[in-house]
Amino acid sequence: MKVNYDDVQEYYGKRLSTNEDLQTNACCPNVAPPKYIRDTLKLIHEDVKNKYYGCGLTIPYELEGRHILDLGSGSGRDCFIAAKLVGEEGSITGVDMTDEQLNVAQKYIDYHTEQFNYRTSNTRFLKGNIDNLDSLDLKKESIDIIISNCVINLSMNKPKLFKDAFSLLKNGGEMYFSDVYADRRIPESLQKDPVLWGECLSGALYWNDFLNIAKLAGFTDPRVVTSSPITVENEELQEKLGDIQFFSVTYRLFKLDGLESDCEDYGQSARYKGTIKHNPAFFDLDDHHRFPKGKMITVCGNTYKMLQETRFAEHFEFFGDWDTHYGIFEGCGGNIPYKGEQNSEGAACC
Ligand SMILES: C[S@@+](CC[C@H](N)C(=O)[O-])C[C@H]1O[C@@H](n2cnc3c(N)ncnc32)[C@H](O)[C@@H]1O
Repeated sequence: MKVNYDDVQEYYGKRLSTNEDLQTNACCPNVAPPKYIRDTLKLIHEDVKNKYYGCGLTIPYELEGRHILDLGSGSGRDCFIAAKLVGEEGSITGVDMTDEQLNVAQKYIDYHTEQFNYRTSNTRFLKGNIDNLDSLDLKKESIDIIISNCVINLSMNKPKLFKDAFSLLKNGGEMYFSDVYADRRIPESLQKDPVLWGECLSGALYWNDFLNIAKLAGFTDPRVVTSSPITVENEELQEKLGDIQFFSVTYRLFKLDGLESDCEDYGQSARYKGTIKHNPAFFDLDDHHRFPKGKMITVCGNTYKMLQETRFAEHFEFFGDWDTHYGIFEGCGGNIPYKGEQNSEGAACC
């Protein structure tokens, strides 16, 4: 029998008490978050942090005043970090289906409101199923950024989740999330194992299936931000998994009209002003687009849009238009996300 929602609730509500109880390190790649996140983490309550089961850093830059939705918010660690970074004018909504996780998150709303010196809370948690986002108290095209940390692998209906997420985002908004991926499709027999599923392994998507699901939902040009390998480090579970390789990847998916299926060359360039908070020297849009301050960088049409039609626009100068097409833009890739040693800065754990 396939794993069901009750099994997942049982795993996160009863079987795990803290992240020490995890059987593998899938939910915890060992890379330190940047300093400003470490500083924010100092303000987060220990009970919330003890029940953190994420697999990456799902906090993008340029959050002030934004409205954020966290899918599978658990005990609320990422929500509270985001609540600090969006400021009092912004808001964060976390959705989770497991009472024990939600109860911890709810319990510490007032604590964090005080920690951040806010007059009123900017954070709320909804009980709900992320496979049915269309039935929750959420308005279409109302969200600036959807985040999610190590949860989508647990979804039982991933194509619907991405379609619903797309319709909740404003145009120019993005989904910025970390999850576990596999280098091949996971056999059905392993998908029936509640421990492998609960540990975020056997529900993981084969990376190329994920790309196709995201594109079908409307996210035409998924971009890898960081990726790193996951080692299971549990002999019994590793034996069941054989030689399937897993990696943790943070993707960003922009909702933008007119993104093309391939990177096309219109002779456009962008120059970073160095003004995004915590990024004075350079800004990394993804793992293959670094914009050093003041340097003119040639970009494809899709990258141009990701900068010019989003919250990043004010931080760049733009050169060029759409009048002339010069052919394919070489160098942008939709290949296997983890290609060995590469930019894993920012991936985070506990
Ligand atoms: C691996 S934990 C991650 C929690 C949190 N994002 C964090 O980083 O600590 C997975 C969480 O997703 C929730 N979850 C799994 N499937 C869900 C679903 N279909 N709807 C809502 N929540 C779900 C679980 O209850 C659990 O809290």
